[in-house]
Amino acid sequence: MSQQKFYITTSIGYANAAPHMGHAYEEFIADVMARYKRNCGFDVFFLTGTDEHGVKICRTAESKDMPYQAFVDENAEAFRKFYDTMSSSYDYFIRTSDKETHWPGATALWKKLSVSGDIYKAKYTGLYCVGCEAFVTEKDLVNGLCPNHNTAPEKIEEENYFFRLSRYADIVKKKIESDEIRIFPETRKNEILALFNDGIQDVSFSRPEGSIPWGIPVPDDTAQVMYVWCDALSNYISALGYGREDAEKFTKFWPADVHVIGKDILRFHALLWPAMLLCAGLPLPKEILVHGFITSEGKKMSKSIGNVVNPKEYVENYGSEALRAFFARDISPFEDSDFTEAKFLESYNAHLANGLGNLVSRTIKMANQYFDGKVAVNENNEVLLKRRVETVSGTTEAPGVTLKYFINEEILPSYHSHMERYDLNRATDIIWSLIKRLDGYITDYEPYRLVKTDKAKTEAILANLLYGIEVISDILSPFMPETAEKIHDLLGITSSPDGSPVVFNVKTVDSPLFPRK
Ligand code: MSP
Repeated sequence: MSQQKFYITTSIGYANAAPHMGHAYEEFIADVMARYKRNCGFDVFFLTGTDEHGVKICRTAESKDMPYQAFVDENAEAFRKFYDTMSSSYDYFIRTSDKETHWPGATALWKKLSVSGDIYKAKYTGLYCVGCEAFVTEKDLVNGLCPNHNTAPEKIEEENYFFRLSRYADIVKKKIESDEIRIFPETRKNEILALFNDGIQDVSFSRPEGSIPWGIPVPDDTAQVMYVWCDALSNYISALGYGREDAEKFTKFWPADVHVIGKDILRFHALLWPAMLLCAGLPLPKEILVHGFITSEGKKMSKSIGNVVNPKEYVENYGSEALRAFFARDISPFEDSDFTEAKFLESYNAHLANGLGNLVSRTIKMANQYFDGKVAVNENNEVLLKRRVETVSGTTEAPGVTLKYFINEEILPSYHSHMERYDLNRATDIIWSLIKRLDGYITDYEPYRLVKTDKAKTEAILANLLYGIEVISDILSPFMPETAEKIHDLLGITSSPDGSPVVFNVKTVDSPLFPRK
């Protein structure tokens, strides 16, 4: 059977500043899912990148007196570097100012829409919110201000190209209702469905080059540049080679299995993007995962309030694995969640320094102290160790009674079902419940006492503990890849191909995995 593909994307962050906590979290979710699917044997393509055009970027670069390209180069580099330091395993980093990769795709898509007759020229008189990079109506405003940015939109009167979005509203609505485009969580699906009740208008799809001198030119009309969302959304296919000669990846990976986005950009992804694809005769994305917002001290992060939490500082001070663990356990993939240093530290000490770190180091220490690091599965122990990947994909049968003590039949299937539904909090709960069971196993069997009277049984107990830790490192690997690798390495497993007894050649731990903070 050929390997199944999995195409996952993040939204592309505006390259008008360094990445913030929201970008870090979105990258994390997509990275976890990409790693999980790779563990399950899928051929994964994970796309991330930066959105480099639009009014906001144009103005910020001007205010800093910087050439547009130099300005976005600097910020795009900050994004890419940061994603690297947080161990993102993206396969490609797309930049919308890249004329070689992105522009041909965006241009080809525009041409396709144009040929279908759904791009037309008309006069636009209305409002534009620069913060949202979106045309807005009075209805969207609260006391005349955009509720997302607390700023008054700009009045615009110009001749632009329009996209006939209204023609596709009914079809898109049906596709969302029937889950042909599946939106997670259900509350976001309902939210977008409610939007259709207001009636869907056509959208302005370009701006005059005179007012925005930074963007992709409209094909056959260089007096206009593409509207930034038209340009940006096409990154999902341009990155795969759409519009270029080498479109092998496009054929293989499109449609997206999931777009990971934040709640404020749902309508662009669940309405505009599917409409563009339908118009172009292209397949639709299968799922959209809509995460909530990270707040700080209960409020939206803002420089003026002074409550901005900078992800880079957390990686520098505590390490990327600690940040990823906090995201995994304490930030909801579906709702808004609060990020404070106090919460972060409390969780770090309870779950990493104590929970995981403590279990691993005390088990490894016992193995070294009592058995010189060499622990074999013996006749008291019915554990057979299957290969790593098999364990992760859930194909391992619960092999022995002793093992069932902490790894019962429900654990792996429920881990997988949480992962399939993006419920990262529940999936990590399973990992930490396993840690708790292993701690309980030590308390119940007291290997530190037993070793004085029954060495063989003590060895079996340690083998079970080490095996349990190996399972933990497997299912932890999408969340904390470096820690998982470190633990796996510490265990020094040798398993023979015929499934005969396994030996752990445990290394010594020189310093704690997670020192208390
Ligand atoms: N450039 C567009 C996306 C184009 S995709 C074709 C954009 N960029 S953004 O930089 O403003 O936002 C990038 C992502 O970060 C979005 O998914 C957005 O929802 C998310 N977040 C922005 N602030 C956030 C938080 N405070 N918390 C969590 N995510 C947040 O929109």
